[in-house]
Amino acid sequence: MNAIDMAIRAAAANITLSGVTKAYDAETVVIPPMDVELRAGEFTVVLGPSGCGKSTLLQMIAGLERVSGGTIVIGGRQVQDLEPKHRGCAMVFQNYALYPHMSVFDNIAYSLKVSGMAKPERIERVGAVAKMLGLSDFLGRKPGQLSGGQRQRVAIGRAIVREPGVLLFDEPLSNLDAQLRHDMRVELAELHRRIGATTVFVTHDQVEAMTLADRILILNKGRIEQFDTPKAIYHQPASVFVAKFIGAPPMNILPVTGDGAVLRLADGQVVAQARLTGAYQLGIRPEDILIGGTANGQVVTSALRFREDLGSHAILAAELGSSVVRIATPFGVEIPDHSQLSLNFPASRLHLFDAESGKAIPSAFGAN
Ligand SMILES: Nc1ncnc2c1ncn2[C@@H]1O[C@H](COP(=O)(O)OP(=O)(O)O)[C@@H](O)[C@H]1O
Ligand SMILES: [Mg+2]
Repeated sequence: MNAIDMAIRAAAANITLSGVTKAYDAETVVIPPMDVELRAGEFTVVLGPSGCGKSTLLQMIAGLERVSGGTIVIGGRQVQDLEPKHRGCAMVFQNYALYPHMSVFDNIAYSLKVSGMAKPERIERVGAVAKMLGLSDFLGRKPGQLSGGQRQRVAIGRAIVREPGVLLFDEPLSNLDAQLRHDMRVELAELHRRIGATTVFVTHDQVEAMTLADRILILNKGRIEQFDTPKAIYHQPASVFVAKFIGAPPMNILPVTGDGAVLRLADGQVVAQARLTGAYQLGIRPEDILIGGTANGQVVTSALRFREDLGSHAILAAELGSSVVRIATPFGVEIPDHSQLSLNFPASRLHLFDAESGKAIPSAFGAN
């Protein structure tokens, strides 16, 4: 660890939002009152579809958007009325927003210079940050002479050079190609392990969320659907919205009806034993459906529609009741060519949701 790592780790701050809301007018409530606490040093990913309010939330924390109500406390200080520069946050945007006419050194050093830091100290700080980010050999170049990944690193360098306790990222990897996104993801995870700043990272990409987050905050129309570890989000989704947002392909959701003893699909086939009556939504992940009539789950018959071979596994699509279910089969599993497919739904892998609200009904099958 160098001095910068230690300074940032020491500055890592709790963020507490209480009743924070954003409305442009009475009809345009982007964020209804929100209560949430982000722990010091934690990496939180805010995940949700486009337009759900992710950037708005981040900008209210940063101070680039005013709150319409509520309080934001960072490191024990109420900050919602403070200027961005007094909040101890640094932000990295999707489009980097580097100064094109300035060198890498000057881009990283800019905020230090504005704050009046003496030149020898600036050189030392920028040197340490550049070393941390693998930019030492590029300090004299202009942003236009760098690759996308290097530019992204300069943007991160510029953010961390002031030793912020809070790092805010708004879709910072969206402009990069697939390989670079992957590499930068790994770099960001490493950087966070090293400097330990409280980090809030906004994305609509579930893979980024699953791989980077200590906890994922899933946002739907400005409301928190679930805020939990990637594992819990994946295995115990709190709602149909979460279940369908995570996983590729996402969880299958099927309408079912209970008669007090069994749950039936729309076509009348029994899909589970359960003492439930009325309408529900049943969830099962593609990788949890087994092909063939063995094991201890309920077996249903479906019509195979198509298959996609992805090398490591195949995705099958089959018609079941009034729905299409997707099944992920591991490499090497024999799939019968004829169109009738027996599917086994293990009871321990089933998820049940309210038909109306979409909220999870835990323990419906004893297992989850
Ligand atoms: N100045 C504004 N006036 C009215 N609505 C706005 C304004 N800025 C953003 N919005 C709305 O707020 C919602 C959330 O936007 P945003 O936070 O950018 O979403 P995200 O980052 O999740 O894509 C969107 O529906 C957007 O249309
Ligand atoms: Mg946005």
